[in-house]
Parts: sequence; structure tokens; C-alpha cells
Amino acid sequence: MGIVVPTMKASVFEVLLVLLLTGIYSNKGMAKKTKKPKFAVPQINCDVKAGKIINSEFMVKCPAGCQDPKYHVFGTDVYASYSSVCGAAVHSGVLDNSGGKILVRKVAGQSGYRGSYAHGVKSLSLPRWRESFIILESKPQKGVTYPSTLTYSSSKTPAGKAGEATKAYENPSVTGTTTQPVTLTQTLAISVAEAVYRVTSKPFTASVTSSSRPQPMGRRSQDMGETDLWKPGPVLLDSGSVPEEEFNTQSSELVPQGDPNCRVDLSFLIDGSANIGKRRFQIQKQFLADVVQALDVGPDGPLMGVVQYGDNPATQFNLKTHTNSQDLKTAIEKITQRGGLSNAGRAISFVTKNFFSKANGNRGSAPNVAVVMVDGWPTDKVEEVSRVARESGINVFFITVEGAAEREKHYVTEPNFASKAVCRTNGFYTFNVQSWLSLHKTVKPLVKRICDTDRLACSKTCLNSADIGFVIDGSSSVGTSNFRTVLQFVANLSKEFEISDTDTRIGAVQYTYEQRLEFGFDSYNSKNDILSAIKRVGYWSGGTSTGAAIQYALEQLFKKSKPNKRKIMILITDGRSYDDVRIPAMAAYQKGVITYAVGVAWAAQDELEVIATHPARDHSFFVDEFDNLYKFIPRIVKNICTEFNSQPRN
Ligand SMILES: *[C@@H]1O[C@H](CO)[C@@H](O)[C@H](O)[C@H]1NC(C)=O
Repeated sequence: MGIVVPTMKASVFEVLLVLLLTGIYSNKGMAKKTKKPKFAVPQINCDVKAGKIINSEFMVKCPAGCQDPKYHVFGTDVYASYSSVCGAAVHSGVLDNSGGKILVRKVAGQSGYRGSYAHGVKSLSLPRWRESFIILESKPQKGVTYPSTLTYSSSKTPAGKAGEATKAYENPSVTGTTTQPVTLTQTLAISVAEAVYRVTSKPFTASVTSSSRPQPMGRRSQDMGETDLWKPGPVLLDSGSVPEEEFNTQSSELVPQGDPNCRVDLSFLIDGSANIGKRRFQIQKQFLADVVQALDVGPDGPLMGVVQYGDNPATQFNLKTHTNSQDLKTAIEKITQRGGLSNAGRAISFVTKNFFSKANGNRGSAPNVAVVMVDGWPTDKVEEVSRVARESGINVFFITVEGAAEREKHYVTEPNFASKAVCRTNGFYTFNVQSWLSLHKTVKPLVKRICDTDRLACSKTCLNSADIGFVIDGSSSVGTSNFRTVLQFVANLSKEFEISDTDTRIGAVQYTYEQRLEFGFDSYNSKNDILSAIKRVGYWSGGTSTGAAIQYALEQLFKKSKPNKRKIMILITDGRSYDDVRIPAMAAYQKGVITYAVGVAWAAQDELEVIATHPARDHSFFVDEFDNLYKFIPRIVKNICTEFNSQPRN
């Protein structure tokens, strides 16, 4: 992909030249750099995911040791940007486990990623993802300059320093010069301003990272910076107080392309119920306009549509109706109130089914976000419809304004509706605003969270959406030392998943003749806690009633599984059961529990196949020695992911 501007009007050229020079001389350190095309290759850690880096093409240095399975990789040749950059580099064969430099290029999202085993790394498969990347040999291409510092998608940089991304924004840095014609790299988030910037620059051709647009007065750096624009007290923001982008006012040729650091497809659900009243509806509109202003809407940045709901929802405009902040603000001003009840649930359902379609301008490559505004509380239920929305890849935010007071609580249809509707209960996705008059204070934090695309984590993968129950044979034949190996196997397998109370959860049952619950799905909610709990499991010793153990696990573990989780039972045994396993295995199947049976030593293969979910060859494993158990971990994870990806999800 290349953007070429063959003829350039002198005036535009001059403006660009001036800006470019300003960029150089306003920053003395950078001015020196332009003389030397040399640049330092930035270093990253093994766990950095490509999606976190905004640059569309860059060189990085990977440390040694990225072959470790804990750095997850999705895909083969083309990797989902959810993958570890360095892990993918090892998988692709460009690097080995001793690290080194690589060249990374972002490419479009794919409708599917195939997992494979290569160069000591097992990659996983994944359905649709919004962005991909490929790994090339580290030889830089002629005529291309690479960023010497990377731009990260959230304000949290690997060094943990807040505000780095914003800083990069404020200091346009020319990273190198060359007299060669510039090869325009394939760029997802390239702005026209940047493209023009590159092409115009005879006698000097500059390449700029996408974040460092020539925009010293960019409104984003103002809005997201430390200076508080908001006046105290119940004064609505006068949006005229936000400095206009100099670049745009000086050259009408350049249509605003939007903030490339905030590429999201956004649906705003506004409350148009009769109860809200004219004045508060007006405040809501003003809030929307302020958000639009702060977002910097455009085809290379955020796109936004609005749905208004009362009794029923209706789309005011979709993602492609208005593609810049100014037009959107004008359109928002013209919205009239619908009236009726406050059926937010119905509106969320409507948005899930209709709003994020291709025809409505959904780009597919940008995360989907729905912000639901509620005056007081909704008149219908939102938990279930929000779950469906999240499972179809929509990140749901809730803003509740003037929620129920203590004496009004009994009117509320669904208590705690906002926290039930979102995918994290840590407050990231919810805002509880005391008064309409203070709503304007929410603009800045809301925009910051919406644009923190790395934390928009509501999409599901095979690693973050299961309830996994281990059923562990503690019979006498196992022995103390082998029992430790089994626990290690359980721990190592658990480590492969993303564990928290809203991601994958782990539970465990140990059995002999009898059964006991070691810990349930809600006992622990971090990987470390789970790992130490597994370590603490004490060896019981006794008989082997596997059938009763399955029954027990269904009642004591899986009954408490969440409806939106995949239920997976992993049973480990070393011998034939004293009781019948057929009926309990059938019961597990009927309850939607997918059962993996892992047999060691004296385990009976025919019995494993009865216990395991059909087809047995994918769900039952036999190993002759405990010491070889570890070999099955990659296969079990792979099968869980393959199964997850092959089944339809809403
Ligand atoms: C578990 O992982 C550790 C460390 O990676 C390894 O040494 C051990 O062999 C593994 N054991 C099993 C049973 O998977």
C-alpha cells in the first residue's frame, strides 16, 4: 500500500516545510540525529505483544529465552497481534532462543490463524483477530528508516512510565534521513498528514513514526496531558476552549484523519427516555459532543455512531455517517429525544445484532466498543444481553448517572446491573456519576479508557474463558513421589491459561474411594494463588472410585461454573476404576462438560476412552510413566484450543 501525492501545491509544501523545520529545531537533540542515519534498535521483553506497539513497521531486539511456552503465539507465518512478538520470531525461525534483531511488519487482521509447532515453539490457533504481523529477517530495507523508540498503545509503557505515548506525540522526531526514494510501508494507522510529510520532502526525505505527526498543538496532547481543562463547578465545557489543531486550520487540503492512537469502532447508546427530561437530555448531548471532540474522530482513528433508546432503540447515525469530529458534533446537536421507557437491554441487543455490521462501516480491524449511558437505572435487564454482546467481541462500558438512592433501590429491576454487564469488575468498564452536572468530568477518563485498546480485553480466546476442573487420582498405587509429579503436571497445565476471576478459573478435586474438594473455581483468582494452592494439595492414598469422583466433580465443582464459561474436566488416573464410569461420564457430557482423560501406568485405555468426550482420540491420553506426563501438556492445550475455535460462539 502506498499513498502518493504527485502534485503538491506550493503553499501546502511550504507549510509542511515550516512545520518540519520547526519540528527539528524545536528539539535540539533531534536536530543532531538527522545528520546521522544511524539509530538504536529498541529492545523489548519476551512478553510484549505486537498489538501493544503502534508502529506499523519496526525493528526490535529480542532477549534470549523467548522460546518459553508462557509467551503465547497465535498463528503460523502470519501471527495475530495478540501474540508475543519475540515468541513469534522464534516460531517463524527468524530467531533462535538466543535472541537478536528482527523486523516486524503489521498486516491486516485475518479471519483465522492456524496453530503449528515450529522451531521449538507451539503456536495456537485463533479465530478472527483485528490485526496481524509478520516477521522478517532483520536486514533493514533500503530507503526505509525505522523508529528508534516504539510507540505503545496505552499510557503504560514497558518501563511503567505513564505518559510516554503522549510525550512522543508532542515531540515530532525525525528519525533519520535518506536521499533514496522512500518506500511507503504498509501501514494501518497511517495518516494522510504523515504520508504527505514523507513524499514532499525533497531535498530531504523524512520518515516519521505514526505517533509523531507534525502536530505540536495536537488537541490530544492537550486533552490527555496533565493540564486540567475542566473548570470546577457545574459549568459545561465550552468546547471552543480546546485549541484547534494548527495543522488543519492552516491547510484546508488536509482532511482530519483522526487520532491513530485510538483506532476503535464506537457505538454510543444514549438514554432518550421520557424520565430524563429535556434539560438532562441536553447535558447528555453536550457530553457526547465533548467526547467526540476529545476523541479526534477520523478514518484512521476512532469512528463513532450513536443509538438512542427509549422503549425501543434506533440508530441516529452509524460508523460511516460522519467521519470527523466537526460533522459529528453538528449531527449530535440535531438529535431529538425519543421518550418512552429506559430499555437499555433491548438497545444493547439491537447494537449486537445490527450496529457493528460491515454495511454500517465496521472496519473489522478495530476493536468494537459500546458505551451505554443510563439515567438512573434501566427498565429492563442488561446482564444477559451484555454477555452476548461481549462474546461477540464488543467491549461494553456503562455510565450510570444519578443511580438509585438507598430508598429507591427496590425499584431497580436488576441490582448491580452495571457491574453485571461488563467483563471486568475492577471498575475499568463502569462509571458511576453522581449528578448530571458533574458528567463533564467523565469525558477525559472515558476517552482514555476507550483508547487504551490494549486493555479492551473482553474478547474471548481459548485461554481466557474456561472453568477447568482437575480430578486427581490420589490412590495408594500412585505413591508420594508420583503424586508430586501429577501436581506439577496440573500446575504446568494451569500455567498455560490466563487466570483471573473473569478469565479462566481452575478448581480441583482429589479422589480415592472418597472424594474431596481441594479448591473451587472461586477460591482463587490469580495464577500465583492457584499454583501455590496446587502445591499444597496433600496426598490422600486409598482406593480408586473414578465414577464417583466424576459425579462428585459435577456436583461440587461444575455446578458452580459460570454459564458463559467453557466447562473442561481433566481427569488424571493411574489405574482401573473400582466403580462404573459410564453413567457419570454420560452425565458429564449431558451437562456440557468436556472431559479429558489422562491415564498413567496401570490405567485402562478402554476406560479412558469411555470417560473422555467423543472423539476419544482427541480427549484421552495414555502415558506409561509419570515422568512422561509433561509431554502431553502442549497437546492438551492445543486440543482445547482447536475445539474452542471449531465451535460456534455467539
Ligand atoms: C513442569 O514444568 C517444570 C518447569 O518448566 C519442568 O521442570 C517439569 O518437568 C514439568 N513437569 C510436568 C509433570 O509437566
